[in-house]
Amino acid sequence: MTKTSSFPYPQSAALVTGASRGIGAAIARELARRGIAALALTARTAADLDRVADEIRSAFPATRIEVIAADLAEPDAPAFLKAETDRIGLSVDLLINNAGFGSYGLFDESESARNTAMVEVNIAALVKLTHLYLPEMRARGRGGILNVASTAAFQAVPYLAAYSATKAFVLSFSEAVWAETQEWNPPASDVRVVCLCPGGTDTNFGDGMDRGRFENGPQSTPEEVAVGGLDALDRNASYVVVGLSNYVGTLGSRLLPRARMARMTASMFRPLSSSGPAESEKTRRYLAAGGIVAAIGVVGVLLAAAKRRGD
Ligand SMILES: NC(=O)c1ccc[n+]([C@@H]2O[C@H](COP(=O)([O-])OP(=O)(O)OC[C@H]3O[C@@H](n4cnc5c(N)ncnc54)[C@H](OP(=O)(O)O)[C@@H]3O)[C@@H](O)[C@H]2O)c1
Repeated sequence: MTKTSSFPYPQSAALVTGASRGIGAAIARELARRGIAALALTARTAADLDRVADEIRSAFPATRIEVIAADLAEPDAPAFLKAETDRIGLSVDLLINNAGFGSYGLFDESESARNTAMVEVNIAALVKLTHLYLPEMRARGRGGILNVASTAAFQAVPYLAAYSATKAFVLSFSEAVWAETQEWNPPASDVRVVCLCPGGTDTNFGDGMDRGRFENGPQSTPEEVAVGGLDALDRNASYVVVGLSNYVGTLGSRLLPRARMARMTASMFRPLSSSGPAESEKTRRYLAAGGIVAAIGVVGVLLAAAKRRGD
């Protein structure tokens, strides 16, 4: 098996966090469809986990499914999950760090406890789980970790300030660990680390948030996101952005001045109730330049895709 062959799902057991609904449940279903041998599903709400587990069992009776309820905002939850998977004899070689949540609005008006819990779930639990399961994958010479970030990882997102920063952490951390695994004695070692970056996706993610100006943006389905992430795992990509327009959108932060990018993003995410400052002539020029960059990006992506098809 090489690092560019499909992930060996039928020989693997996966732990999926945030599996009770949305993207995590879609990834669990897609793993079963790809023939995963065993699945451990975790989130806080046991009843929702049971519902997803029953649904997958009836469609894929050969897949072993375990449910473990845990609150990843609790600092000891990752160690508890590792102890539980060990106790039930599940040797996890695919870790899906998907659980996460956001908080929308002005940062100075945000709830401090919610920000702290967000950092615990979106960052600390993901780092701890990676640290708990990666050494065994390295020892076995195979495994995979799929960390769910967001297109919000690529630039500061005003009004989602703490959330976008947690996702920037996930992207940077994942790429660094991916690069380390590439230096592990190839080709004997096949451990993959992928950062999955969805854009707006049709889930319960925005429930309870005033989604403001980003409410009506284009949405992927959780199934599209799941397939995009697992296809990236199959090709041993370091990261993947789901959707061409989302990908093009991430290019702006590579080319535009950071302060200008943050101001432009603020104008996109500002609450509907606030008119905000009028766009300056300079901002309009940057937006026009951004459009040109996006168009060049689309042409580049299409040329690259055409070249790949011709290889
Ligand atoms: N939807 C989007 O537009 C979008 C875009 C980019 C990235 N993402 C990312 O995709 C991931 C999945 O989000 P989603 O859209 O599927 O949202 P979702 O429908 O709200 O699902 C979130 C999942 O995380 C679990 N979770 C939340 N808090 C938890 C906690 N303290 N401990 C354990 N589990 C917890 C939830 O289950 P319980 O409530 O039962 O615990 C649920 O299973 C997140 O990391 C999110 O940041 C989403």
